[in-house]
Amino acid sequence: MNAILRGVRVIDPLGRLDAPGQDVWIDGGKILAIYHHIDAAGVPVVDLTPPDGVDPCVLCPGFIDLHVHLRQPGDDEAETLETGARAAAAGGFTHMVAMANTTPPIDTPERVAEARLAASNLPVSILQVAALTRGLDGEELVDIRKCVESGAVALGDDGRNSVSPRQLAIALAETAHLSRAVFVHPEDEEMIAQANGTQGSVTRSPIRPVETETRAVNLAVRALSHARSGHLHLQHLSSEGSVASLRRARHQGLAVSAEVTPHHLSMWLPVAEEPDPQALRKVNPPLRGELDRVALVQALREGLIEAVATDHAPHRAAEKSLAYDDAAPGMIGLETALATCITIGGMGGEWLATLVERLTVGPHRILGPASGVPEPRLRIGESATCTLFDPNAEWTVGETPLHSRSRNTPLIGARLRGTVLLTLAGGRVIHQDPARVPIVSEQVTSV
Ligand code: DOR
Repeated sequence: MNAILRGVRVIDPLGRLDAPGQDVWIDGGKILAIYHHIDAAGVPVVDLTPPDGVDPCVLCPGFIDLHVHLRQPGDDEAETLETGARAAAAGGFTHMVAMANTTPPIDTPERVAEARLAASNLPVSILQVAALTRGLDGEELVDIRKCVESGAVALGDDGRNSVSPRQLAIALAETAHLSRAVFVHPEDEEMIAQANGTQGSVTRSPIRPVETETRAVNLAVRALSHARSGHLHLQHLSSEGSVASLRRARHQGLAVSAEVTPHHLSMWLPVAEEPDPQALRKVNPPLRGELDRVALVQALREGLIEAVATDHAPHRAAEKSLAYDDAAPGMIGLETALATCITIGGMGGEWLATLVERLTVGPHRILGPASGVPEPRLRIGESATCTLFDPNAEWTVGETPLHSRSRNTPLIGARLRGTVLLTLAGGRVIHQDPARVPIVSEQVTSV
């Protein structure tokens, strides 16, 4: 690819750059220049200059998703590493972190190594979380050091949360030496079991009162404070109470970070009727009320919550067409994340630069430098890892087929604003909208 992208807004949070009306010259996968006007003989120009009063297209570092489920190994019909990577690229993501709740789970150093090998040579970097406990059942901690040596970027039992606070404190202390965070899915399994009158697995249990999250957040924070070291990362916060607990923990100086999903920022209900099947809106933790949504948006805007993460959770259609109480929880999110945040998640308009920060620098900070993920920067002369998006372009979800192998989102049919036009990773074009960016690209990587 050799082209000049004309008239874009360049947002590079680490470079302290937010400049509209820029021309960006990309040649051979490298950003050659960013300037207010560039002409170079023979170099094609893609003119993206917006009409007066319309927001420009944005060029920024590639997005990093801290939280995806890719179902390989175990359920290739729902998603594979390849289809997940394709969906990620289409959503503007160049790096994503895969959870360990596959079948079998990624709970040994050997499985971490296998998962990393299986994910190599894909255009999107897939980083791996190792389970915190064997089988994710909370009983026995994995060999944390060896899992990290095999390449795990963090530890966590996401999907489950049955580890005791005591074990969690031990794990936090150990991971501190290894510069890795412990990711916690904060839902209290005992309380959920009680609320649903069950003794078995609570993964699909439909009744999940907000107190189950508040209690789990508070227990995890207490474990961190007992550990006196370590980094606790709270996944997919869904409630006002959790935001309050997070704020208290931060005021105490504890090393705790948090993420929020596009679906909890939007609770998607403003754009969708009750979906059919109804279980399309079933997700753990559940979608809650407007006060919760507003608290989450506020926390993300102010930086108390540092990252947007999708919790992309593909499921086969059969798993979602069961009765609500029996259906699998989760929704796909890689391809709708940006548009959901912009259109109904309170992060469009004046909050766009903040959104970019929370999709790039925020998640990178949480992973830490030991993860090996390069700093999300736009550097002149280096291979570009970046995303170009139009925050205004409207589209209908599902009108053109999604890249994910699954379709479980209640947003099918919704009109959203915000489309990804181009994604480059390590200088390679991994996604391109040929209508809007009609450049010859020898390197659209087929995954
Ligand atoms: O809704 C969810 N689905 N939440 C999770 O934490 C796990 C995920 C899954 O794996 O399907």
